[in-house]
Amino acid sequence: MTITDITDIATEGFPLGAAGPLGNLTAAEFTAIRQIVLASPIMTESTRFAYVGLAEPHKREVLAFQRGEGPGPERRARVMLLDMKTGHSTDSIVSLTAGAVLSTNVLDGSEGQLPILIEEFDAIGPIVAEHPEWVEALAKRGCTVDNVMCVPLSAGSYGFEEEEGRRIVRVLAFRQDYPGDHVWAHPVDGLCAYVDVAARKITRLIDHEVMAIPAEGGNFDDPEVQGPPMATLKPIVITQPEGPSFTVEGEDVTWANWKFKVGFDAREGLVLRQLSFTDEGEERPVIYRASVSEMLVPYGDPSPVRFWQNYFDTGEYLFGRFTNSLTLGCDCLGEIHYFDCVLSDELGNPFTIENGICMHEEDFGTLWKHSDMFTGSNEVRRQRRLVISFFTTVGNYDYGFYWYLYLDGTIECEAKLTGVLFTASHPGEGHPYQSEVAPGLGAPYHQHLFNVRLDMMVDGISNAVDEVEAVRLPISSENPYGGAFTNKSTRITSEADGGRLANSATARAWHIVNTEKKNRLGKNTGYVLYPSESPTLLAHAESGIAKRADFATKHLWVTQYEPTELYAAGDFVHQNPGGDGLPRYMAADRSVDGEDIVLWHTFGPTHFPRPEDWPVMPTDYAKFTLKPHGFFGRNPTLNVPANEPVHSCDHGSAGHGHTDHEHGAHGH
Ligand code: NI
Repeated sequence: MTITDITDIATEGFPLGAAGPLGNLTAAEFTAIRQIVLASPIMTESTRFAYVGLAEPHKREVLAFQRGEGPGPERRARVMLLDMKTGHSTDSIVSLTAGAVLSTNVLDGSEGQLPILIEEFDAIGPIVAEHPEWVEALAKRGCTVDNVMCVPLSAGSYGFEEEEGRRIVRVLAFRQDYPGDHVWAHPVDGLCAYVDVAARKITRLIDHEVMAIPAEGGNFDDPEVQGPPMATLKPIVITQPEGPSFTVEGEDVTWANWKFKVGFDAREGLVLRQLSFTDEGEERPVIYRASVSEMLVPYGDPSPVRFWQNYFDTGEYLFGRFTNSLTLGCDCLGEIHYFDCVLSDELGNPFTIENGICMHEEDFGTLWKHSDMFTGSNEVRRQRRLVISFFTTVGNYDYGFYWYLYLDGTIECEAKLTGVLFTASHPGEGHPYQSEVAPGLGAPYHQHLFNVRLDMMVDGISNAVDEVEAVRLPISSENPYGGAFTNKSTRITSEADGGRLANSATARAWHIVNTEKKNRLGKNTGYVLYPSESPTLLAHAESGIAKRADFATKHLWVTQYEPTELYAAGDFVHQNPGGDGLPRYMAADRSVDGEDIVLWHTFGPTHFPRPEDWPVMPTDYAKFTLKPHGFFGRNPTLNVPANEPVHSCDHGSAGHGHTDHEHGAHGH
């Protein structure tokens, strides 16, 4: 690549991307970024692109540009580079507008490492196979390097001296009995290698104990294992004869009263931008940006070969990269719109995940209904929702993230968890950290803690959070029969008070209010975040993982907006010693009352695996809800049209009567 090409880029210009200042990086932009970086001195022949993503402009600049003020922000990308031979790691900002590298920060390892590369995954088997001590340890367990698969896992930070400043992964082995055999069924337990990938060295071998390798297969895709197919299920077909109700223009979506932009990032996956609800002709913002900022899977088994199992699937593994290409009729049913996702590979070249993001409408039962005993009025309306989702596979687990927008202004985010459990040899009775899910096969207890960053913009920039909860009142002259209860509201004024726990016993919820705008009842307009209460991080407060994942110790955090504060556990999570992300962001104790604020919500299941989760897990769910609360002056869905009654539902099957409630409501 020559300087001439760079000049060409600068001349042709990428002023705003294809879709405005927040538009996803295009294939042409990824190529241009690569050319700019290749021409710079930070590049060597063993350098790989660990991450390339949009460096978002400040919200203020974007909003000013959208109001027609100013020329629009510079188009920038963030580029993280790793030299595979030396481990040299850099974090740069590249300007597409100027065709230049604007800044480069060299990482010394003390603040963590760049995410794990796919190239490192692929390298790990051959690296450990070069070590005789690994081969011997496998032989003791009746295995060879040819019949085990090696899984490189993020190392965490445990203060091991020999790991300082080096990129380390921890390696567990699983036996494969024949080609196509699912390896998770056969963990080679009691053995773990710590590996410096760049130096191609085992830094420590933990050969703790020879344990029996579970024999039973886990091939859920084998028709013999599945058994004869159920013959009683008839097809479900979802049709929308007039097509879906949404319109899509590039990355911009309009559906019912909702408008938003669909973004995508290698680290966070799906990003929803500039979500607004049009109310009586006025487009009212609700969320500026929403995404999964981090997710942690901490394991609770203190075994010498797995005490370190704590996976940060976004910060360490960049789970957006593993987004699945979805299939119509299998992954998604009905009238689907797919968005392709464009990313950079590790050589800096663009690649496309086709059908990575799925969008469709769903009927969602009764929206509202009443049969009036005095007037005879009999009204029912049906709810529907727009679903925007993606699925990513991170090693053994598969995660879906589903955003739901409802006609009444409700927003939900739901995580779906499926795939295969991480397994171990079950040590038998007296080991209270695992479930036995198949004979001799253990599944260590663990949590899935998702953190969603909600850059709120309820009716504008000036927002605050009130913690609202129910209060039981004493018996008094005012409350002589003891039945009275009320609620109390406490404003979260600064970041120091911004770490909050959910409490289902008092229906604790967080009201995000606009401190300037009022509804027709004179109250500040707002949205409520309803958490679904689940345990926070169960590791000890003094543990290393609690320091690295401070975000997971509370259900909610509130910070003042700052465009570079995007990740709950910090930018460089791999081998980060802790204290990064939210604790660092909040150290300044900024005001969050009437400011531009960001909410960070942690939720997710604590998983004591069941036999039914093996050999592949039926989907588990975790979610939270945002509901308008005084955002509107009344129910905003009175004008949703009624459905036409369907009189013939006879498909020829006996006993298919008009027994459901909707039919009853029409007085059949
Ligand atoms: Ni689980």
